[in-house]
Amino acid sequence: MKHLLDFQAWSKGSLENILETAKVMADVLERPVKKVPALQGYTICTAFFENSTRTRLSFELAARRMSADVITFNSATSSTAKGESLQDTIATLEQMKIDCFIVRHEASGAAHSVNKFSKAKIINAGDGRRAHPTQALLDAYTLLQRFGSLEGLEVAIVGDVRHSRVARSNAELLPKLGAKVRLCAPATLLPKELEGDGVSTTTSLEEAVSGADAVMALRLQLERMNTGYIPSLEEYRSLYQINAKTIQLAKETAIVMHPGPMNRDLEIEGELADSSKSVILEQVKNGVPVRMAVLYHLLVGKG
Ligand code: CP
Repeated sequence: MKHLLDFQAWSKGSLENILETAKVMADVLERPVKKVPALQGYTICTAFFENSTRTRLSFELAARRMSADVITFNSATSSTAKGESLQDTIATLEQMKIDCFIVRHEASGAAHSVNKFSKAKIINAGDGRRAHPTQALLDAYTLLQRFGSLEGLEVAIVGDVRHSRVARSNAELLPKLGAKVRLCAPATLLPKELEGDGVSTTTSLEEAVSGADAVMALRLQLERMNTGYIPSLEEYRSLYQINAKTIQLAKETAIVMHPGPMNRDLEIEGELADSSKSVILEQVKNGVPVRMAVLYHLLVGKG
């Protein structure tokens, strides 16, 4: 596989290979010396045109743990602020012999555009509302860690589905691996076209969460919303918040997930996010070995 833009071109087998490799990488990260030479000589550029904490830093750490050289492009402090286009920016960086661009951009399809005008390998680190494949992979890895297999798992994803690339990537990935996804939001935030094999939609929180193995709350992306999607934050909170009461509808063994960053006490109750049911920090931890595995498969070409 040359790029990771979304999961369209990825078979179940190649995705499972990445998750298997992530387990090996997680073992490396438990050693006293958390470094291997696998990507020595490779140069990786994180090209982030949108803010990030988890994704950018875990990709950079993942690359460094495998001995790659890493350069960080930050749009806010770059010539993008002077009006330089995405295409010119990538063409400029490419002259520095970059092997892999890890791209985050507010425009859906930006990573595909970079792929058209670069010879480097491209990893999509989140493009608009379209895809965030490595987040979905680390979510799948977290589910695997907890349940051993994804086959037959019922995963409720609740919140601002409309603006969520995490929801789209999970709705693409988890059914490929055997899980069923229930997307839940107010009607204005729930695109019906996401329904498909292994993916259902509902506006009822009770229906989504009842009997679920995992409940993932999504951030209400207020920065991407014009007015009019929800009547008020108070109403949203009362109907859709994942909290100690609503999680009781799920299986007793259910886990609580959130891709972060959270609006504490809006889409998720802070106390529940900090409880033993929550795997939110495990998701963050798993981001490093999963991204090591993605870089390894794309650059070294195993699988
Ligand atoms: N989940 C996620 O993409 O977080 P960041 O925006 O902090 O990278």
